[in-house]
Amino acid sequence: MEVKILTQHYDKPEYQSLEGYKKYEGYQQLKKALTLKPEAITEMVKQAGLRGRGGAGFPAGVKWGFLPNNGKKRYLICNADEGEPGTFKDRAMMDRAPHQLIEGMIISAFAINSPKSYIYIRGEYFESKRIVEKAIKEAYAANLLGDNILGSGFSHHMDIYSGAGAYICGEETGLISSLEGKKGQPKLKPPFPAIEGYLAHPTIVNNVETLAAVTIIIRDGVEGYRKYGTEKSPGTKLFSVSGNVVKPGNYEIPLGTPLKDVIFNLCGGLKQGRKLKAVIPGGSSAPVLNEEEAMSVNMDYEDLADKGSMLGSGAIIVIDDSNSMVELLQVLMHFYHHESCGQCTPCREGTGWLSKLSNSILEGSASLNDVKLLEKVANHMKGKTICALSDAAAFPVLSFVSKFKEEFISAATANVALQFQSKNGQSYKRG
Ligand SMILES: Cc1cc2nc3c(=O)[nH]c(=O)nc-3n(C[C@H](O)[C@H](O)[C@H](O)COP(=O)(O)O)c2cc1C
Ligand code: SF4
Repeated sequence: MEVKILTQHYDKPEYQSLEGYKKYEGYQQLKKALTLKPEAITEMVKQAGLRGRGGAGFPAGVKWGFLPNNGKKRYLICNADEGEPGTFKDRAMMDRAPHQLIEGMIISAFAINSPKSYIYIRGEYFESKRIVEKAIKEAYAANLLGDNILGSGFSHHMDIYSGAGAYICGEETGLISSLEGKKGQPKLKPPFPAIEGYLAHPTIVNNVETLAAVTIIIRDGVEGYRKYGTEKSPGTKLFSVSGNVVKPGNYEIPLGTPLKDVIFNLCGGLKQGRKLKAVIPGGSSAPVLNEEEAMSVNMDYEDLADKGSMLGSGAIIVIDDSNSMVELLQVLMHFYHHESCGQCTPCREGTGWLSKLSNSILEGSASLNDVKLLEKVANHMKGKTICALSDAAAFPVLSFVSKFKEEFISAATANVALQFQSKNGQSYKRG
């Protein structure tokens, strides 16, 4: 069921070095791309239907097509911040195949006519940074980066920049602010980065996996790339599977693969005696699926949207009947409250309320009204803020509470009963 297109050589340690990468057709796609017209590459990426792998799923070629022809220097930024809880695929891509990413970036830079790119890497990824830095040096030494690349007349320079541990710097405008040396706070869109991004120049921000996949599109062509996946969600994608499965890890599968096959075949199912309870299919910001939904959904952009969730960053978090949904939500809300940058009132205050309410439901000082209040606060946080972090905190709350209401009610009321019992020796329930 796994189809290893991007990850075909990831099991070979030598693939990390330029020499090893070249043994397996490394940089052949760059050579090919440099003989094509830049617009033809953008058109190929559009026709292949490659959608952004960082979370929003926006078509990459369409985004590139938004760049204005105003003569300004264009920048390419690789988003390697990988902060979405549950996601660990970009790290694997950088660690196992740094040159695949660099090759994809040079081809993409050539397509959009950009002389300079940055890889914005998550601060905690020390080892990945070391590996990518070494690969960039190797590429410079082989004239795969720098001036007049392989005598083509195209010049491109690449740098790496470390984040400092803030989730919000994964949001593209927050990332750009951080790269500019400012506070990593998102900005209102429009203008979108393609029009006004890094240093107010037209800028394309793409995820690690999106940029690496460009190499595959050049190699296999549009039809070859579309051989896997569905009509509207073509290609393969890396999924990071974590939680209560026997074999967690990164798996590359064609988009459209049934989630139940991923969990019960690829990942070896659940531990003995455990029952599937829920699945977060696309990173912690994606609405949770209950068992019935999880068993019938296919892992593509459309089917997940039909089921009220999203593919997001491709992080599948499997939850079995030994887990408390109340506890899980409390952990998530603590995270979003901690990571809110504080610019927008609904997000700054709302995430604080969600964190406090979920905490009190879990710890024993809540009422039934607090469960209702949790939903009410989340409903006021959607679509009202500068960036999508506020929605990302609200979505899990609404799906957790609506799909597991009994669990939240019984946690809230059981805890209240205990609280009263301890004070006066009697047990009441408050609604
Ligand atoms: C709060 C927040 C955090 C994000 N974190 C990441 C991240 O760590 N990595 C990433 O690629 N995209 C992240 N994104 C999405 C980016 O803003 C942007 O859409 C993406 O980098 C575009 O690349 P793509 O089109 O190739 O997916 C985040 C978005 C939000 C709202
Ligand atoms: S939604 Fe939250 S994280 Fe995003 S800009 Fe507003 S306060 Fe900051």
